[in-house]
Amino acid sequence: MGNCASAIDSSSFFFFFKRPNSNDNIPGMSASKRTTSSTTTGRLSTLSDSTFMPSTVSGVSTDDAYPDGQILESPNLRIFTFAELKNATKNFRTDTVLGEGGFGKVYKGWVDEKTMNPSKSSTGIVVAVKKLNPESVQGTEQWESEVNFLGRISHPNLVKLLGYCKDNDELLLVYEFMAKGSLENHLFRRGAVYEPLPWSLRLKILIGAARGLAFLHSSERQIIYRDFKASNILLDSNFNAKLSDFGLAKHGPDGGLSHVTTRVMGTYGYAAPEYVATGHLYVKSDVYGFGVVLLEMLSGLRALDPSRPSGKLNLVDWAKPLLADRRKLSQLMDSRLEGQYHSRGALQAAQLTLKCLSGEPKNRPSMKEVVEALEKIESIKTKSREPRNSSSLVRGQGNSPRSNSSRTSSRGR
Ligand SMILES: Nc1ncnc2c1ncn2[C@@H]1O[C@H](COP(=O)(O)OP(=O)(O)OP(=O)(O)O)[C@@H](O)[C@H]1O
Ligand SMILES: [Mg+2]
Repeated sequence: MGNCASAIDSSSFFFFFKRPNSNDNIPGMSASKRTTSSTTTGRLSTLSDSTFMPSTVSGVSTDDAYPDGQILESPNLRIFTFAELKNATKNFRTDTVLGEGGFGKVYKGWVDEKTMNPSKSSTGIVVAVKKLNPESVQGTEQWESEVNFLGRISHPNLVKLLGYCKDNDELLLVYEFMAKGSLENHLFRRGAVYEPLPWSLRLKILIGAARGLAFLHSSERQIIYRDFKASNILLDSNFNAKLSDFGLAKHGPDGGLSHVTTRVMGTYGYAAPEYVATGHLYVKSDVYGFGVVLLEMLSGLRALDPSRPSGKLNLVDWAKPLLADRRKLSQLMDSRLEGQYHSRGALQAAQLTLKCLSGEPKNRPSMKEVVEALEKIESIKTKSREPRNSSSLVRGQGNSPRSNSSRTSSRGR
């Protein structure tokens, strides 16, 4: 089927939405139930029926800016048996669980670096094993999409899929292990393990994630990621960002069309308004999602948080006026930054965020432009490494720990 997306008519729309992970805490809503579905209309391809059109698989424009990325002709993956993965994860032992999403639990496992056979934790390399929860309604489709897309793509800012298992009803995926886990945990979780991310690290992570998206968008037959959010940005031991989860990825439009029309799927708070309203999915719909994450990085607040007062439930809605007013911006900035950011850089980041969040897809920048803008902001920091009490670093007023606490509570954090 491959390019079915551009041909699906509006009668096949249906809403398939994930809530952001903050809703893990909503009573009665388990992770596996965060996705709901009632139809398989417009399903992504099966393994034997590739989503990649043969004429385009090797047709990635090797953009000079991303020399390390490539798309392979066919997935180059290790096929695991269920028994092997059971063995590698110590029988899916509870203490190996790394996290859980809509697809199911993710376990830590150990395999031999060369053969990928299960090994002892003392000798093997660490991998992440994602195991489909049988309750996950869209699991099979997402599993196939992950293998079809991620199995063929290689880029430093996309997590590596090492292999998979399809053993009777058991569907699993094996990824490179990302030692620092998800951005979501670092940005929103509290506790000794999660130190506040400094400004420079936030920029590094944003640039990495932006490069990953820019690479997907730069291929001849563009790939729309469709599920850009903090929990899908994973971090390696050096805080290099890599996008994970290609379960919702879709080829971009062809034949001169501006968008593909498809079921509305994604995560509340991150999905672009035109897509939610019409099912029209643009490459620039990903840019909107990036803008939401950029805003989360600036503010330290979740895109959607039911524990906030109703007027502040949706971060984009209430933050937009603050982004647009340079005198109010410091009120929005994450108190955990303690004012340690460059005011000019923050202002440029706020302007970039606004552009990404533009209501009209065509008014949003391309991801290549986003990468360039972020690199410019990063260079402000490195060029002018000023002393901590420099006047160009935003300090005092709304950023002092004391005033932070009142602002924090007024935001309902
Ligand atoms: N390759 C990996 N290395 C290390 N930890 C991982 C890896 N993949 C996933 N995890 C951990 O497992 C958690 C769950 O990931 P998963 O992608 O299944 O769900 P999610 O992104 O939180 O939600 P969703 O189902 O909406 O994508 C992540 O937040 C992360 O902490
Ligand atoms: Mg995920």
